[in-house]
Amino acid sequence: MFFKTKKEVFGLDIGSHSIKLIELKKSKRDYKLKTAGIKLLPKDTIIDGSIMDSTTFIDTVRSLLTEAKPSTKFVALSVSGQGVIVKKINVPFITEEELANAIQWETEQYLPFNIQDVYCDFKILGESAEIQGQLDVLLVAAKKDLVDDYQNAIREVGLEPLVVDVDAFALQNMYELNEPILEDKVVMLANLGASFSNINIVKNGLSLFTRDVIWGGNKVTESLQKNLGITFEDAESVKCGKPMEGIDINEVSAIIAQEIDNVVNEIQRTINFFYNSNPNDVIDKIVLYGGTAQLNGLIDAIKEKLGLVVELGNPFKRIAVDRSFWNKGLQNYSIQTAIAVGLAIRRLGDR
Ligand SMILES: Nc1ncnc2c1ncn2[C@@H]1O[C@H](COP(=O)(O)OP(=O)(O)OP(=O)(O)O)[C@@H](O)[C@H]1O
Ligand SMILES: [Mg+2]
Repeated sequence: MFFKTKKEVFGLDIGSHSIKLIELKKSKRDYKLKTAGIKLLPKDTIIDGSIMDSTTFIDTVRSLLTEAKPSTKFVALSVSGQGVIVKKINVPFITEEELANAIQWETEQYLPFNIQDVYCDFKILGESAEIQGQLDVLLVAAKKDLVDDYQNAIREVGLEPLVVDVDAFALQNMYELNEPILEDKVVMLANLGASFSNINIVKNGLSLFTRDVIWGGNKVTESLQKNLGITFEDAESVKCGKPMEGIDINEVSAIIAQEIDNVVNEIQRTINFFYNSNPNDVIDKIVLYGGTAQLNGLIDAIKEKLGLVVELGNPFKRIAVDRSFWNKGLQNYSIQTAIAVGLAIRRLGDR
Protein backbone atom coordinates (compact mmCIF):
# COMPACT_ATOMS: atom_id res chain seq x y z
CA MET A 1 0.00 0.00 0.00
CA PHE A 2 2.82 2.41 0.58
CA PHE A 3 4.71 2.35 -2.63
CA LYS A 4 2.55 1.45 -5.59
CA THR A 5 -0.21 2.80 -7.75
CA LYS A 6 -0.95 2.70 -11.47
CA LYS A 7 -3.21 5.76 -11.63
CA GLU A 8 -2.28 9.40 -11.66
CA VAL A 9 -2.73 11.04 -8.30
CA PHE A 10 -2.45 14.43 -6.71
CA GLY A 11 -0.52 14.97 -3.52
CA LEU A 12 -2.31 15.98 -0.35
CA ASP A 13 -0.05 16.80 2.58
CA ILE A 14 -2.08 16.93 5.76
CA GLY A 15 -0.13 18.99 8.28
CA SER A 16 -1.28 20.22 11.65
CA HIS A 17 -0.90 23.85 10.56
CA SER A 18 -2.19 23.53 7.02
CA ILE A 19 -3.23 21.14 4.27
CA LYS A 20 -1.32 21.43 1.02
CA LEU A 21 -2.47 20.21 -2.40
CA ILE A 22 -0.23 19.78 -5.45
CA GLU A 23 -1.03 18.20 -8.81
CA LEU A 24 1.60 17.91 -11.52
CA LYS A 25 1.50 17.09 -15.19
CA LYS A 26 4.34 15.20 -16.75
CA SER A 27 5.30 15.98 -20.28
CA LYS A 28 8.02 14.19 -22.22
CA ARG A 29 10.87 15.79 -20.43
CA ASP A 30 9.61 17.71 -17.49
CA TYR A 31 6.95 18.39 -14.93
CA LYS A 32 4.46 21.19 -14.97
CA LEU A 33 2.40 22.44 -12.07
CA LYS A 34 -1.27 21.76 -12.72
CA THR A 35 -2.99 22.53 -9.42
CA ALA A 36 -1.79 24.10 -6.17
CA GLY A 37 -3.49 25.15 -2.97
CA ILE A 38 -3.21 25.49 0.78
CA LYS A 39 -5.74 25.81 3.62
CA LEU A 40 -4.92 26.62 7.19
CA LEU A 41 -6.35 24.24 9.76
CA PRO A 42 -7.75 25.71 12.96
CA LYS A 43 -5.50 24.95 15.92
CA ASP A 44 -6.01 21.52 17.54
CA THR A 45 -7.83 20.02 14.54
CA ILE A 46 -4.84 17.66 14.28
CA ILE A 47 -2.74 16.86 17.33
CA ASP A 48 0.29 14.55 17.30
CA GLY A 49 -0.62 13.43 13.80
CA SER A 50 -4.17 12.34 14.77
CA ILE A 51 -7.38 13.95 13.54
CA MET A 52 -9.08 15.32 16.67
CA ASP A 53 -11.92 17.22 15.02
CA SER A 54 -13.00 15.37 11.90
CA THR A 55 -15.84 17.78 11.02
CA THR A 56 -13.47 20.75 10.84
CA PHE A 57 -10.93 18.63 9.03
CA ILE A 58 -13.40 17.48 6.38
CA ASP A 59 -14.75 21.02 5.91
CA THR A 60 -11.23 22.32 5.39
CA VAL A 61 -10.37 19.66 2.80
CA ARG A 62 -13.65 20.35 1.04
CA SER A 63 -12.99 24.06 0.78
CA LEU A 64 -9.43 23.40 -0.42
CA LEU A 65 -10.82 21.15 -3.18
CA THR A 66 -13.40 23.73 -4.18
CA GLU A 67 -10.72 26.38 -4.56
CA ALA A 68 -7.91 24.37 -6.09
CA LYS A 69 -10.01 22.02 -8.29
CA PRO A 70 -7.71 19.06 -8.88
CA SER A 71 -8.54 17.05 -12.01
CA THR A 72 -8.73 13.62 -10.35
CA LYS A 73 -10.17 12.09 -7.20
CA PHE A 74 -7.15 9.87 -6.71
CA VAL A 75 -4.86 10.99 -3.93
CA ALA A 76 -1.45 10.24 -2.47
CA LEU A 77 -1.31 10.92 1.26
CA SER A 78 1.47 10.60 3.75
CA VAL A 79 1.86 9.80 7.39
CA SER A 80 4.65 10.48 9.84
CA GLY A 81 5.39 10.82 13.51
CA GLN A 82 5.21 8.35 16.34
CA GLY A 83 2.70 6.03 14.69
CA VAL A 84 5.13 5.29 11.87
CA ILE A 85 8.24 3.14 11.99
CA VAL A 86 10.82 3.12 9.23
CA LYS A 87 13.70 0.72 9.52
CA LYS A 88 16.45 -0.32 7.17
CA ILE A 89 17.39 -3.98 7.51
CA ASN A 90 19.65 -6.43 5.70
CA VAL A 91 18.45 -9.77 4.41
CA PRO A 92 20.17 -12.47 2.34
CA PHE A 93 19.39 -12.42 -1.42
CA ILE A 94 15.81 -13.62 -1.80
CA THR A 95 13.05 -12.88 -4.26
CA GLU A 96 10.49 -10.15 -3.70
CA GLU A 97 7.87 -12.85 -3.25
CA GLU A 98 9.86 -14.67 -0.58
CA LEU A 99 10.43 -11.39 1.16
CA ALA A 100 6.71 -10.58 1.06
CA ASN A 101 6.10 -13.81 2.93
CA ALA A 102 8.79 -13.13 5.51
CA ILE A 103 8.00 -9.47 5.99
CA GLN A 104 5.49 -9.84 8.82
CA TRP A 105 7.99 -11.74 10.88
CA GLU A 106 10.87 -9.39 10.01
CA THR A 107 8.83 -6.32 10.90
CA GLU A 108 7.53 -7.74 14.14
CA GLN A 109 11.03 -7.78 15.60
CA TYR A 110 11.39 -4.02 15.29
CA LEU A 111 7.94 -2.93 16.36
CA PRO A 112 7.05 -1.23 19.58
CA PHE A 113 3.41 -2.03 18.67
CA ASN A 114 1.45 -5.20 18.14
CA ILE A 115 1.81 -6.49 14.56
CA GLN A 116 -2.00 -6.77 14.27
CA ASP A 117 -2.25 -3.01 14.82
CA VAL A 118 -0.05 -1.93 11.91
CA TYR A 119 0.05 -1.97 8.13
CA CYS A 120 3.46 -3.04 6.89
CA ASP A 121 5.21 -2.72 3.60
CA PHE A 122 8.74 -2.97 2.33
CA LYS A 123 10.92 -1.80 -0.47
CA ILE A 124 14.07 -3.50 -1.74
CA LEU A 125 16.70 -0.77 -1.99
CA GLY A 126 19.39 -2.86 -3.64
CA GLU A 127 22.56 -4.69 -2.80
CA SER A 128 24.00 -3.71 0.55
CA ALA A 129 27.11 -1.55 0.36
CA GLU A 130 28.24 -2.66 3.82
CA ILE A 131 27.51 -6.37 3.90
CA GLN A 132 28.40 -8.48 0.85
CA GLY A 133 25.73 -10.82 -0.47
CA GLN A 134 22.92 -9.04 1.37
CA LEU A 135 20.11 -6.78 0.31
CA ASP A 136 19.17 -3.48 1.91
CA VAL A 137 15.46 -3.50 2.57
CA LEU A 138 13.36 -0.70 3.93
CA LEU A 139 10.59 -1.74 6.30
CA VAL A 140 7.68 0.58 6.90
CA ALA A 141 4.96 0.05 9.47
CA ALA A 142 2.17 2.50 10.23
CA LYS A 143 -0.50 2.24 12.90
CA LYS A 144 -3.77 1.07 11.35
CA ASP A 145 -5.96 3.46 13.32
CA LEU A 146 -3.87 6.44 12.16
CA VAL A 147 -3.95 5.41 8.48
CA ASP A 148 -7.64 4.39 8.61
CA ASP A 149 -8.65 7.72 10.17
CA TYR A 150 -6.96 9.66 7.37
CA GLN A 151 -8.33 7.43 4.63
CA ASN A 152 -11.87 7.48 5.99
CA ALA A 153 -11.89 11.25 6.33
CA ILE A 154 -10.55 11.60 2.78
CA ARG A 155 -13.21 9.24 1.39
CA GLU A 156 -15.91 11.35 3.04
CA VAL A 157 -15.13 14.19 0.66
CA GLY A 158 -15.30 11.89 -2.35
CA LEU A 159 -11.58 11.33 -2.80
CA GLU A 160 -9.91 7.98 -3.22
CA PRO A 161 -6.61 7.52 -1.39
CA LEU A 162 -4.40 5.28 -3.53
CA VAL A 163 -1.03 5.79 -1.94
CA VAL A 164 -0.07 6.24 1.65
CA ASP A 165 3.52 7.37 1.74
CA VAL A 166 5.84 8.45 4.53
CA ASP A 167 6.79 12.15 4.81
CA ALA A 168 10.52 11.46 4.81
CA PHE A 169 10.32 9.52 1.51
CA ALA A 170 8.08 12.08 -0.16
CA LEU A 171 10.67 14.67 0.85
CA GLN A 172 13.43 12.67 -0.82
CA ASN A 173 11.40 12.15 -4.01
CA MET A 174 10.72 15.87 -4.23
CA TYR A 175 14.43 16.61 -3.71
CA GLU A 176 15.60 14.16 -6.34
CA LEU A 177 13.17 15.54 -8.86
CA ASN A 178 14.61 19.02 -8.35
CA GLU A 179 18.30 18.45 -7.78
CA PRO A 180 20.79 16.34 -9.73
CA ILE A 181 22.27 13.54 -7.63
CA LEU A 182 25.67 14.71 -6.40
CA GLU A 183 27.83 11.62 -6.56
CA ASP A 184 28.89 10.39 -3.12
CA LYS A 185 27.72 13.58 -1.43
CA VAL A 186 25.74 13.16 1.76
CA VAL A 187 22.82 15.56 2.03
CA MET A 188 20.58 16.03 5.03
CA LEU A 189 17.04 16.97 4.04
CA ALA A 190 14.98 18.54 6.79
CA ASN A 191 11.31 19.43 6.52
CA LEU A 192 10.55 21.70 9.46
CA GLY A 193 6.82 21.85 10.10
CA ALA A 194 4.59 23.11 12.88
CA SER A 195 4.37 20.02 15.13
CA PHE A 196 7.34 18.03 13.99
CA SER A 197 10.16 17.83 11.53
CA ASN A 198 11.14 15.06 9.14
CA ILE A 199 14.77 14.31 8.46
CA ASN A 200 16.12 12.13 5.68
CA ILE A 201 19.86 11.79 5.05
CA VAL A 202 20.47 10.75 1.44
CA LYS A 203 23.44 9.70 -0.69
CA ASN A 204 23.52 8.66 -4.34
CA GLY A 205 19.73 8.59 -4.49
CA LEU A 206 19.38 6.32 -1.47
CA SER A 207 18.16 7.09 2.01
CA LEU A 208 20.78 6.33 4.66
CA PHE A 209 18.80 7.46 7.67
CA THR A 210 15.38 8.88 8.50
CA ARG A 211 14.02 10.33 11.69
CA ASP A 212 11.01 12.39 12.76
CA VAL A 213 11.96 14.95 15.37
CA ILE A 214 9.29 16.21 17.75
CA TRP A 215 10.15 19.85 17.25
CA GLY A 216 8.34 22.33 15.05
CA GLY A 217 7.30 25.95 14.70
CA ASN A 218 4.59 25.53 17.35
CA LYS A 219 7.33 25.35 19.96
CA VAL A 220 8.45 28.85 18.98
CA THR A 221 4.90 30.20 18.89
CA GLU A 222 4.06 28.69 22.28
CA SER A 223 7.20 30.12 23.81
CA LEU A 224 6.35 33.61 22.49
CA GLN A 225 2.77 33.23 23.69
CA LYS A 226 3.87 32.26 27.19
CA ASN A 227 6.72 34.73 27.61
CA LEU A 228 4.95 37.73 26.09
CA GLY A 229 1.48 36.94 27.48
CA ILE A 230 -0.20 37.15 24.07
CA THR A 231 -2.59 34.86 22.16
CA PHE A 232 -1.34 31.98 20.00
CA GLU A 233 -2.52 33.82 16.87
CA ASP A 234 -0.66 37.02 17.82
CA ALA A 235 2.40 34.97 18.68
CA GLU A 236 2.25 33.38 15.20
CA SER A 237 2.21 36.75 13.52
CA VAL A 238 5.01 38.18 15.71
CA LYS A 239 7.05 35.05 14.96
CA CYS A 240 6.65 35.63 11.23
CA GLY A 241 8.08 39.14 11.61
CA LYS A 242 4.96 41.30 11.85
CA PRO A 243 5.45 44.16 14.34
CA MET A 244 2.88 44.41 17.14
CA GLU A 245 2.15 47.35 19.37
CA GLY A 246 3.61 47.04 22.85
CA ILE A 247 5.87 44.13 21.89
CA ASP A 248 9.61 44.69 22.00
CA ILE A 249 11.26 43.27 18.90
CA ASN A 250 14.48 42.52 20.80
CA GLU A 251 12.58 40.45 23.29
CA VAL A 252 10.93 38.55 20.43
CA SER A 253 14.35 37.85 18.88
CA ALA A 254 15.73 36.59 22.19
CA ILE A 255 12.83 34.17 22.68
CA ILE A 256 13.14 32.90 19.10
CA ALA A 257 16.92 32.51 19.55
CA GLN A 258 16.32 30.29 22.56
CA GLU A 259 14.06 27.99 20.56
CA ILE A 260 16.50 27.99 17.65
CA ASP A 261 19.13 26.74 20.10
CA ASN A 262 16.85 23.82 20.92
CA VAL A 263 16.33 22.79 17.32
CA VAL A 264 20.01 23.20 16.48
CA ASN A 265 20.83 20.86 19.39
CA GLU A 266 18.24 18.41 18.10
CA ILE A 267 19.84 18.48 14.62
CA GLN A 268 23.25 17.98 16.23
CA ARG A 269 21.92 14.95 18.14
CA THR A 270 20.52 13.51 14.92
CA ILE A 271 23.86 14.03 13.15
CA ASN A 272 25.76 12.35 16.01
CA PHE A 273 23.35 9.45 15.91
CA PHE A 274 23.81 9.15 12.17
CA TYR A 275 27.62 9.25 12.45
CA ASN A 276 27.54 6.48 15.02
CA SER A 277 25.87 4.12 12.58
CA ASN A 278 27.59 5.51 9.44
CA PRO A 279 31.16 6.23 10.57
CA ASN A 280 32.47 6.64 7.00
CA ASP A 281 29.99 9.29 5.89
CA VAL A 282 30.30 13.04 6.33
CA ILE A 283 27.32 15.33 5.81
CA ASP A 284 28.11 17.84 3.06
CA LYS A 285 25.09 20.06 3.42
CA ILE A 286 21.64 20.54 4.88
CA VAL A 287 18.70 21.57 2.74
CA LEU A 288 15.68 22.95 4.59
CA TYR A 289 12.01 22.82 3.62
CA GLY A 290 8.72 23.37 5.47
CA GLY A 291 7.19 26.54 6.87
CA THR A 292 9.56 26.75 9.81
CA ALA A 293 12.60 26.79 7.49
CA GLN A 294 11.76 30.49 7.13
CA LEU A 295 12.18 31.22 10.82
CA ASN A 296 14.26 34.35 11.26
CA GLY A 297 17.87 33.57 12.19
CA LEU A 298 17.54 29.80 11.83
CA ILE A 299 19.78 29.26 8.81
CA ASP A 300 22.58 31.44 10.20
CA ALA A 301 22.39 29.66 13.56
CA ILE A 302 22.72 26.22 11.95
CA LYS A 303 25.64 27.42 9.81
CA GLU A 304 27.41 28.98 12.74
CA LYS A 305 26.83 26.32 15.37
CA LEU A 306 27.19 23.20 13.23
CA GLY A 307 29.67 24.56 10.69
CA LEU A 308 27.66 23.10 7.80
CA VAL A 309 26.50 24.47 4.47
CA VAL A 310 22.78 25.22 4.81
CA GLU A 311 20.40 25.99 1.96
CA LEU A 312 16.76 26.85 1.70
CA GLY A 313 15.22 24.34 -0.71
CA ASN A 314 12.95 25.07 -3.65
CA PRO A 315 10.28 22.41 -4.35
CA PHE A 316 9.66 23.93 -7.82
CA LYS A 317 13.23 24.29 -9.03
CA ARG A 318 12.69 21.92 -11.96
CA ILE A 319 8.94 22.20 -12.28
CA ALA A 320 7.45 24.58 -14.82
CA VAL A 321 5.14 26.96 -12.96
CA ASP A 322 2.77 29.22 -14.83
CA ARG A 323 2.86 32.84 -13.76
CA SER A 324 -0.80 32.67 -12.72
CA PHE A 325 0.19 30.49 -9.74
CA TRP A 326 2.66 33.10 -8.53
CA ASN A 327 0.02 35.79 -9.05
CA LYS A 328 -2.30 33.79 -6.81
CA GLY A 329 0.31 33.74 -4.02
CA LEU A 330 2.21 30.48 -4.43
CA GLN A 331 5.44 32.19 -3.30
CA ASN A 332 3.88 32.67 0.14
CA TYR A 333 3.70 28.95 0.73
CA SER A 334 5.91 27.26 -1.87
CA ILE A 335 8.47 26.05 0.71
CA GLN A 336 5.59 24.38 2.59
CA THR A 337 4.64 22.22 -0.42
CA ALA A 338 7.78 20.05 -0.35
CA ILE A 339 5.93 16.93 0.86
CA ALA A 340 2.90 17.55 -1.38
CA VAL A 341 5.19 17.82 -4.44
CA GLY A 342 6.89 14.56 -3.44
CA LEU A 343 3.48 12.91 -3.13
CA ALA A 344 2.28 14.30 -6.45
CA ILE A 345 5.09 12.53 -8.37
CA ARG A 346 4.25 9.21 -6.76
CA ARG A 347 2.77 7.78 -9.92
CA LEU A 348 3.73 10.26 -12.62
CA GLY A 349 7.38 9.38 -12.77
CA ASP A 350 7.07 5.97 -11.17
CA ARG A 351 9.69 6.99 -8.64
N1 LIG B 1 7.78 33.36 7.75
C1 LIG B 1 7.74 32.43 8.71
N2 LIG B 1 8.59 32.50 9.76
C2 LIG B 1 8.56 31.58 10.72
N3 LIG B 1 7.71 30.53 10.75
C3 LIG B 1 6.84 30.41 9.73
C4 LIG B 1 6.80 31.34 8.67
N4 LIG B 1 5.82 30.97 7.81
C5 LIG B 1 5.27 29.85 8.33
N5 LIG B 1 5.88 29.51 9.49
C6 LIG B 1 5.57 28.37 10.37
O1 LIG B 1 5.64 27.18 9.64
C7 LIG B 1 4.76 26.20 10.23
C8 LIG B 1 3.89 25.62 9.17
O2 LIG B 1 4.72 24.92 8.27
P1 LIG B 1 4.22 23.61 7.51
O3 LIG B 1 3.11 23.97 6.59
O4 LIG B 1 5.42 22.99 6.92
O5 LIG B 1 3.64 22.76 8.73
P2 LIG B 1 2.57 21.57 8.72
O6 LIG B 1 2.94 20.64 7.63
O7 LIG B 1 1.20 22.10 8.66
O8 LIG B 1 2.81 20.95 10.15
P3 LIG B 1 3.24 19.48 10.64
O9 LIG B 1 3.59 18.66 9.45
O10 LIG B 1 4.40 19.69 11.54
O11 LIG B 1 2.05 18.98 11.38
C9 LIG B 1 3.95 26.94 11.30
O12 LIG B 1 4.49 26.67 12.57
C10 LIG B 1 4.16 28.40 10.91
O13 LIG B 1 4.08 29.27 12.02
MG1 LIG C 1 4.15 18.95 7.52
